[in-house]
Amino acid sequence: MKTVVSGIRSTGNLHLGNYFGAVKNFVQMQNDNNCFFFIADWHSLTTHPTPEDLHINVKRVLAEYLACGIDPEKATVYVQSDVPEIPELYLLMNMNAYLGELERTTSFKDKARKQPENVNAGLLTYPVLMAADILIHKAHQVPVGKDQEQNLEMARKFARRFNNIYGEETFPIPQPYSYTGEFIKVPGLDGSGKMGKSEGNAICLVDDPKDIRKKVMKAVSDSGPTEMNQEKPEPIQNLFTLMDIVSTKDTYDFFNDKYNNCEIRYGDMKKQLAEDIINFTSPIRERILDIMQDDAYLHKVTKMGAEKARESAAKTVEEVRRLIGFRKF
Ligand code: TRP
Repeated sequence: MKTVVSGIRSTGNLHLGNYFGAVKNFVQMQNDNNCFFFIADWHSLTTHPTPEDLHINVKRVLAEYLACGIDPEKATVYVQSDVPEIPELYLLMNMNAYLGELERTTSFKDKARKQPENVNAGLLTYPVLMAADILIHKAHQVPVGKDQEQNLEMARKFARRFNNIYGEETFPIPQPYSYTGEFIKVPGLDGSGKMGKSEGNAICLVDDPKDIRKKVMKAVSDSGPTEMNQEKPEPIQNLFTLMDIVSTKDTYDFFNDKYNNCEIRYGDMKKQLAEDIINFTSPIRERILDIMQDDAYLHKVTKMGAEKARESAAKTVEEVRRLIGFRKF
């Protein structure tokens, strides 16, 4: 059985793109792997959230993942800051992480450009903390999106370096997890590109039906096809792709035929699309809202997760300490 580790960023609400691009795969993975899923709240400090924001962000993203089907009985679900073994490994890994390589990381350069008033050391050593998250459980695989590939590459480098210095077999070299399921790229509503966090482009799982209708009705379209079986321009293709994901085949075929016969009315199509999205998100949204109210459940989940994660982490830290040369008197 493979050990899989993934950190979850605690910023922004989950949207349909996150769901089909990642979360749905997590729900699959937990069935046949030893999965550790955690909320990366220490990482979030690199952008200086207020104390109130910090907690509510963790709570929201936890509730959202649980509502999507992450199962704390199958996977180890925890909050990063509940596991003090992680910062110990982070401190030790920092001793073999070099300023030059950290400064060259794309994500560091991006962040430094975005928040020039706050280029803190946490930002610089972000990949070291991420490596500690991964190596603490001796992960074999890490499911990461494109934007995290370089950080995973750093984790691999730090693992190899540690193995070279202290002993070949300490850490498995973590591989990027390749999804077995189909990788679905969900388009956004603003006519081009994928669904992201930008205003108006994304439908969040927690959006209420009224908001979903409003967003879908405002989605970019055009004045309609003028020739039979015309190729679909990107904004129109995007609406069809969304429909393909959330609607029945009959519904999709119905509007596709209308398009091909130049009889399509985008208003009708969007109305249907909005209702089908609502049908899909409503049960998840209700679960999110229920879980957000249920502090006792969240307490239970995070306590159990922290215990399981610490048990695994403590073993690694003990071994690492011994290898580095720490001895008890
Ligand atoms: N940096 C990741 C992101 O922004 C979150 C993360 C933190 C992570 N630690 C991790 C992902 C460990 C995978 C493994 O999405």
